[in-house]
Amino acid sequence: MNFFNTHISEKSIQLASDTLKSTYVSAGQLADIFEKKLEEELGLANPVTLNSGTSALYLALAVAGVKPGDEVIVPAQTFIATGLSVLMHYAKPVFADIQYRTGNIDPDSIRHKITAKTRAIIPVHWGGYPCDLDEINEIARENNLAVIEDAAHALGGTYRGKPIGAISRFTAFSFQAIKHLTTVDGGAICCLNKDDCYQAKRRRWFDIDRDNSKPSILGEREYDADHVGYKLHMNDLSAAIGLGNLAEFPANLKQRREIAGRYLNELNDVSGIELLDYKNDRLCAYWLFTMLVEKREDFIRALQSKGVPASVVHLRIDKNSIFGGITPDLPNQERFNEKQVSIPVHNGLTDEDVNLVVNAVKEGW
Ligand SMILES: Cc1ncc(COP(=O)(O)O)c(C=O)c1O
Repeated sequence: MNFFNTHISEKSIQLASDTLKSTYVSAGQLADIFEKKLEEELGLANPVTLNSGTSALYLALAVAGVKPGDEVIVPAQTFIATGLSVLMHYAKPVFADIQYRTGNIDPDSIRHKITAKTRAIIPVHWGGYPCDLDEINEIARENNLAVIEDAAHALGGTYRGKPIGAISRFTAFSFQAIKHLTTVDGGAICCLNKDDCYQAKRRRWFDIDRDNSKPSILGEREYDADHVGYKLHMNDLSAAIGLGNLAEFPANLKQRREIAGRYLNELNDVSGIELLDYKNDRLCAYWLFTMLVEKREDFIRALQSKGVPASVVHLRIDKNSIFGGITPDLPNQERFNEKQVSIPVHNGLTDEDVNLVVNAVKEGW
């Protein structure tokens, strides 16, 4: 049994092959079609496709105007990419505490971390469970900050009836190999506001407006870059793979939710385990199924001996030297970090696999 899976549909293989044969493999029409489909089928707001989730965070920070010396509030319970994207702008990640029973950033802690230098907040939907977005966006409005959701784990999640990707000023997704929807590597930023979307589209490709810059008689596009542009666009080969997988995404998400539903029912009263909290006003995308477990290493060993992989996936990132080491005032982060562990939840699992996971956990460690 694998802890993660990489889902490549038959349609993805066909579309990828067609794309290669066409030789139109770089920035082209398929990336535009993929954006349209992400908007129409998943309800994402003005998605701009990119070459990774890290690029999505980086570009959102650029469009939000984050400058060297600014501060950006982030949780430490994430992958290192979240914090590095801030450092790439020579800005400072400031770590806020999380909620012990969700792993998500705590709005009260955000309030305490705001200074005159704060420019943005990056809430991370840990494992795909949506953060308290109304409270976070309210804090952002009161303090004139940009909210950039790191939704690398949360494609398909919803919050108070809206899809993740249509709520805050920016939302960053990852379509990397082991994500719910893969383009092999890739990502997108969604922008509530059309001007942010326009800027993101220009700046992902050298600050050139591809849609409105026609080649002159001399053979080069006519353009005038007035911001720093980058090369972060999604190529058409990746878009072809994403388009092929998109058709199967709803069924795959449903399967993840069914597996998670079984875990929630069956592991509810296992001694030594605290399940996370799941509120009725939001739906988790279950990229991970994380639990809080006593004697975690014994738990992982016991499961491994029965053929079931378990993993912390990511430990707190502030421990890295580049961020200056453990932030001292994050008590919930400290407890979560000691106990969190995830068990497999993906569409590559059979019913027998799920039974094996449930029984292995119930047998104890
Ligand atoms: C929370 C989080 N943010 C950002 C990223 C970066 O995404 P990518 O690998 O597509 O750059 C990841 C990758 O797994 C992630 O887990």
